[in-house]
Amino acid sequence: MNFAARAKELEPWIIGNRHWLHQHAELSLKEVETTAFLVRNLEEIGIPVQSYDDYYGCIATIKGTAEGAENGPTLLLRADIDALPITEDSGVDFPSLTEGVMHACGHDTHTAMLLGAAKLLWEKKDELRGTVKLLFQSGEEVFIGSHYYWDQGLLNDVDAAFGMHVWPSVDSGKFGILDGPVMASCDNFKLTIHGKAAHGSTPHVSHDALVAAAQIIMNAQTIVSRMNNPLDSLVVTFGTIRCGTQFNIIADTAEMTGTVRCYTKRARAIVEPALRRIAEDTADGLGCTIELEYNALEPCTRNDDPELTEIARGAAAELYGSEALQDTPPGSGSEDFSYIMDHIPHSMFAFIGCHDEEAGAIYAVHNQKFCINESLLHRGSAMYAQFAADYLAKKNPAGAAQKGGQA
Ligand code: NI
Repeated sequence: MNFAARAKELEPWIIGNRHWLHQHAELSLKEVETTAFLVRNLEEIGIPVQSYDDYYGCIATIKGTAEGAENGPTLLLRADIDALPITEDSGVDFPSLTEGVMHACGHDTHTAMLLGAAKLLWEKKDELRGTVKLLFQSGEEVFIGSHYYWDQGLLNDVDAAFGMHVWPSVDSGKFGILDGPVMASCDNFKLTIHGKAAHGSTPHVSHDALVAAAQIIMNAQTIVSRMNNPLDSLVVTFGTIRCGTQFNIIADTAEMTGTVRCYTKRARAIVEPALRRIAEDTADGLGCTIELEYNALEPCTRNDDPELTEIARGAAAELYGSEALQDTPPGSGSEDFSYIMDHIPHSMFAFIGCHDEEAGAIYAVHNQKFCINESLLHRGSAMYAQFAADYLAKKNPAGAAQKGGQA
């Protein structure tokens, strides 16, 4: 089974769907029309699809009908469907019709590619050796969109999961399949320091929250420099500080916010307790107290299953030759699919390149000028489908003894 040729035939349909999605960009957790569009299209193809009264997005299910497929595994393919609060300036002739909202992270392309894959897989269901679930996920950009599907038990039957993102550091239509770290985790924090105000001329009767804040910020630098393994990337950033009202008043309160990024659970685990300890002890030494709100938002996105990355590389090479693979460093942004990946032990996340100088596709994601060369779309559809078919065939080979059957 090779999906390259059929995906190319479907290219005009895939591009047409992408135009519709791009024009009807909707913000996270408000993807009403997008969900309706997907349900309509999937039902037209004939694929069973489940949508929700209390949530957006949908899950289509394709049960393979090859002999023994009922004993095969279930694979999840995922695309995100939401857009960003950005006013489009990409110059395309099918711009967003939703004022101030743009698909500037390419989630319209993911959605169109996965819809293409749905059709490809449906057409070949009599050769599929297991089940493919296709998740069109709401709310990726707000860090919590993926939780619903897992928390509601909609993915309990999934054995392995595959997600993909268009990626500006990889050439258009090529694939970046990494082992280990792919995207960083993302946590944020709010640290409030309480002291005692006084006249600026009488520091001896104050507990200066501003001086405490300054010392805490400096002491917290040792989390990275002295507590973290230097071979394990970690960023602890204080992004804001609000403190004080006038030059001659010693401040009684300081409020700071920041973010933490890393690529391993080990690095992630040290930050909250270390920050709390440093902040409490430093503040205490100056007669101040602290409150720390620490929000763990997104786990690290990691490819820790070499069998899956091997299948993905094989699928890309099978479709477009080994030159379709391109090395790229991990991204330092975060990916909400990591919440689902964290719960499903066999999971991976791939990049499909979208960098194309000639086509003017040179802008970063989340930029108002972000655009792609649409010739990559059918390749993405083929990749989703090929990965799924190859995974099912590998885990449930034809002629093998069946689960629960006789040896
Ligand atoms: Ni994105």
